[in-house]
Amino acid sequence: MQIGIPAESTAGETRVAVTPETARKLKAQGHTVWVQTGAGVAASAPDAAYEAVGCEITDVDGAFGCELVLKVRSPSDGEAALMKPGTAVVGMLNPFDAEGLQTLATAGLTGFALEAAPRTTRAQSMDVLSSQANIAGYKAVMIAADKYQRFFPMLMTAAGTVKAARIVILGVGVAGLQAIATAKRLGAVIEASDVRPSVKEQVESLGAKFIDVPYETQEEKEAAEGVGGYARPMPQSWLDRQKAEVAKRVAQADVVITTALIPGRPAPVLVTEDMVKAMKPGSVVVDLAAPQGGNCPLTEPGRTVIKHGVTLVGETNLPALVAADASSLYARNVLDFLKLVLPKEGGFKIDLEDDIVAACLMSRDGQVTRK
Ligand code: NAI
Repeated sequence: MQIGIPAESTAGETRVAVTPETARKLKAQGHTVWVQTGAGVAASAPDAAYEAVGCEITDVDGAFGCELVLKVRSPSDGEAALMKPGTAVVGMLNPFDAEGLQTLATAGLTGFALEAAPRTTRAQSMDVLSSQANIAGYKAVMIAADKYQRFFPMLMTAAGTVKAARIVILGVGVAGLQAIATAKRLGAVIEASDVRPSVKEQVESLGAKFIDVPYETQEEKEAAEGVGGYARPMPQSWLDRQKAEVAKRVAQADVVITTALIPGRPAPVLVTEDMVKAMKPGSVVVDLAAPQGGNCPLTEPGRTVIKHGVTLVGETNLPALVAADASSLYARNVLDFLKLVLPKEGGFKIDLEDDIVAACLMSRDGQVTRK
């Protein structure tokens, strides 16, 4: 199989879908790997590192001209036009972007969106949402520590004692858990909230306090259990009580990191303008939900702004700020997915009996096939 690795063209995208480590493995499986010149540079993988493992360096046409194209982000219209009908594309193709999927279908491309893989044990090694959210959670804390003009740990010095930073984390999925673990290592005092009851134990096991908002009705309990491990929109009654609890904590917090998402919907508003106004001057909010509209209405996607004395960070691609490790984990996810579609005997196989392949398949033979 001729496999192409284009340079990502989305603004700010520094990751690459194949690293020299995974390229070596693809070569060992007998494939030819064509890397667009400079594709890995921002992720600390220069052309020479790919050449050293036997890849061919090519231009944009060469990379998109392959039978299988491995990407980080969805191809643009122009990029889709560079690919021959029937080309298979694997990447984070955004299953909720109907227009983007239609572009793939219209170009006759066979698109696989790795974000759509089920959250099952077998799919864990190709779970791009987890591998990238983990990095986002870590980087959110690094950015918060950088913007916050005080220490995170408690310090007892000859010049007096410095109090530990109080951090509130809203939404404790993969990113939130990593944010707790990272902030804990830096010595902060942490409280966290989520709609899903199973999270409480995980929060406490990392040494943080869970902000308990008990469920009062069967409807609240059922919504909180979510579906497929994901949150569902909560009834307003519960959200109102959560808001009251969160508001108290946010007013005392030095740093708030929000990661609350509901797949395919705008992010829930958890930190209102009034809550920001009640925060201490110099506090920091890092809003990981910025690309989905933000958990705080004051967040400006892609920008860091100061409002009511509070620094609001609206970075929309935190994993891209840790490009080398984000790429190496993503590339391993891609390599593991390829085992399902590249059989040892050669060729490309789409086995719709395989739940992971079926879930990830977004377009084929000119049609959008998203389930
Ligand atoms: P996500 O990125 O979709 O959402 C982040 C967090 O926000 C979730 O924990 C969600 O419950 C929470 N949230 C949504 N609305 C909220 C609200 N109003 N207030 C507070 N929090 C709110 O979640 P992520 O990180 O993708 O994880 C989703 C699920 O998948 C989790 O249950 C996780 O444990 C599970 N998972 C399972 C894996 C496996 O079994 N292979 C691998 C990775 C994750």
